[in-house]
Amino acid sequence: MSKKLFSLLLCITLVASLLVGCGSKKQENKVGVAMPTKDLQRWNQDGDNMKKALEAAGFEVDLQYASNDVATQVSQIENMINSGCAVLVVASIDGGSLGDVMAKAKEAEIPVIAYDRLIMNSDAVSYYATFDNYMVGQIQGQYIIDTLDLENQAGPFTLECTTGDPGDNNANFFYGGAMDLLQPYIDEGKLVVTSGQTDFATVATANWDTANAQSRMENILSSYYADGTNLDACLCSNDSTALGVANALAANYTGTYPIITGQDCDIASVKNILDGKQSMSIFKDTRTLANQVVKMVTQILNGETVDVNDTETYDNGAYVVPSFLCEPVYADINNYKELLIDSGYYTEDQLK
Ligand code: BGC
Repeated sequence: MSKKLFSLLLCITLVASLLVGCGSKKQENKVGVAMPTKDLQRWNQDGDNMKKALEAAGFEVDLQYASNDVATQVSQIENMINSGCAVLVVASIDGGSLGDVMAKAKEAEIPVIAYDRLIMNSDAVSYYATFDNYMVGQIQGQYIIDTLDLENQAGPFTLECTTGDPGDNNANFFYGGAMDLLQPYIDEGKLVVTSGQTDFATVATANWDTANAQSRMENILSSYYADGTNLDACLCSNDSTALGVANALAANYTGTYPIITGQDCDIASVKNILDGKQSMSIFKDTRTLANQVVKMVTQILNGETVDVNDTETYDNGAYVVPSFLCEPVYADINNYKELLIDSGYYTEDQLK
């Protein structure tokens, strides 16, 4: 073989192998699952449940956690695309920051399911699977209304509000759902937000971080409740923020302990419920969501009609994303055994 021919063949082989390496040679049974962080218990559970359920259904799974770092999540998703995943399931860190990588998925014809959190401003998101986020907020708001018996009591009662990360579209729904029920009582004067802080940006908690929620509540307590004013209720959108509020109260408040709402039934918060330091937590059984997503993945790959039950609510800025909404419920001291232990979600020992 001549030297020229040899170099030509070498070049062709190199280019071909590069193309195979970089191109999205799809493996029809491989699913990429991108989770935001291992820091919160719920995402570990979501990831584990999803992996188990997908593997049991015969899929190969590439499960990645991104330490709440958007750039890391983007590169993990790029790798999933390049390694030929047939479907992507993405729980975003910041729903507005995945536009470019979503466009790459679309170009490679890879369907994307937004998991729990909606991916914004992208027409590459094929489906959205979540718990009904507005209903989560409504259940929290109604819990405060019922526990304070606002229908029958004259009040006034005091309230402080804490919600989640501004980059998480869910936080708007949680807070909006609760405030749609609580606002009329605030307008009427039966509920008084002593700090005056009710607008979303002010009550938001960057990264849903416990320490951020704690320091904001410490400031509120020292500025507005140090004179002995009683705090009757704290609307907290989830457990990591409820924990911050409970920590602030433990160190800085001596009045009657307030109602505190939460979400996720994280072990630390369920323990707080048992100790009387948190009143309730929304229970979103991650097994239910994982199973629903496995069903959707299977339907997509079999070319079947994909199960959705909402085609109106979740406009991501590009279009209204067809969604499947699971139903949330709440756990408190009265029903936690049945919901969390009898169902096998936790063992009694885990809550000791
Ligand atoms: C989820 C909540 C969770 C929060 C913080 C939200 O998007 O829906 O369940 O508590 O993120 O991770």
